Amino acid sequence: MIIVIGKQGQLAWELAQLTDASELVCLGRDDIDITSPTSIEDTLGAYSATAIINASAYTAVDKAETDSDNAFFINATAVTNLAYYAKQHDLHFVHVSTDYVFAGDKGSPYLVDDAKAPTGVYGASKSQGEDEIMAICPEQAAIIRTSWVYSSHGNNFVKTMLRLMAEKPQLGVIDDQIGSPTWARGLAEACLYAATNRVCGIHHWTDSGVASWYDFAVMIQRLAIEKGLLKVAVPVLPIGTKDYPTPAKRPHYSVLDKASLAGQFRDVKRRHWVDALNCMLDQLKPD
Ligand SMILES: NC(=O)c1ccc[n+]([C@@H]2O[C@H](COP(=O)([O-])OP(=O)(O)OC[C@H]3O[C@@H](n4cnc5c(N)ncnc54)[C@H](OP(=O)(O)O)[C@@H]3O)[C@@H](O)[C@H]2O)c1
Repeated sequence: MIIVIGKQGQLAWELAQLTDASELVCLGRDDIDITSPTSIEDTLGAYSATAIINASAYTAVDKAETDSDNAFFINATAVTNLAYYAKQHDLHFVHVSTDYVFAGDKGSPYLVDDAKAPTGVYGASKSQGEDEIMAICPEQAAIIRTSWVYSSHGNNFVKTMLRLMAEKPQLGVIDDQIGSPTWARGLAEACLYAATNRVCGIHHWTDSGVASWYDFAVMIQRLAIEKGLLKVAVPVLPIGTKDYPTPAKRPHYSVLDKASLAGQFRDVKRRHWVDALNCMLDQLKPD
């Protein structure tokens, strides 16, 4: 039995789609308080588990700038609690982290061992969570960093673009931030593989290829029109980061180097981001 922490999020939902309920259970905040070691002990003790996948996180990047205590509580303290539980009960621990642990100014893909330098509270809290795991149970934990995650379930850039493209006469989308869009389905497959094969260490998982948010938006519109999800194409205009200020600074270049996947994750299929987007949009088509 694999225990997934998180229920309503994109990754947790995709994990549930991939696996029979007899082999995987998703626990949401109504089921467990991950900020309490006692709640973790009482709740997880009821399962005969082999692994924990932590699909929960404080993911409100901008809100975190003014809600730092809660961001660190979920992304660092709660992660510490889960890591201790995994160690004490000899469970494999798969944790998901982010490109935001890096500054985004390197200009070439970030290696797993590159120096971390988060520029905001969210990235700093996720970075601390990583460090805690590596201090507590490195011999039984995998940390999978990812970026630009979307799914047919939940709120994300793809669904926001589809809504705005149906509502607005034109859109401006940032073209000077470069990364790798990632379908949560593929990320879920990688997490399951890590949990069942007891993969250890820090790894980077994203879909293949790179894009700007502008490239991503243009492709979303093109494929959505082909599939009948949008009726009319609206102009999509490239804009700079300076034209779209946000409370939290975003990395300009956050492509993650995926060299380690060729070893321990070679059996997990990785898609180009355009192919993955195509599959996800098919799920949104009405029956
Ligand atoms: N989304 C991205 O673009 C992105 C990029 C890089 C890395 N990541 C990482 O990928 C992982 C999965 O992200 P996602 O996109 O699936 O996130 P998401 O859709 O925002 O889901 C986050 C989940 O965390 C749960 N959660 C938050 N606080 C909790 C608490 N106190 N107790 C229990 N559950 C709690 C939420 O539960 P509720 O539904 O009850 O609120 C939700 O199910 C996260 O570690 C995230 O940091 C995401």
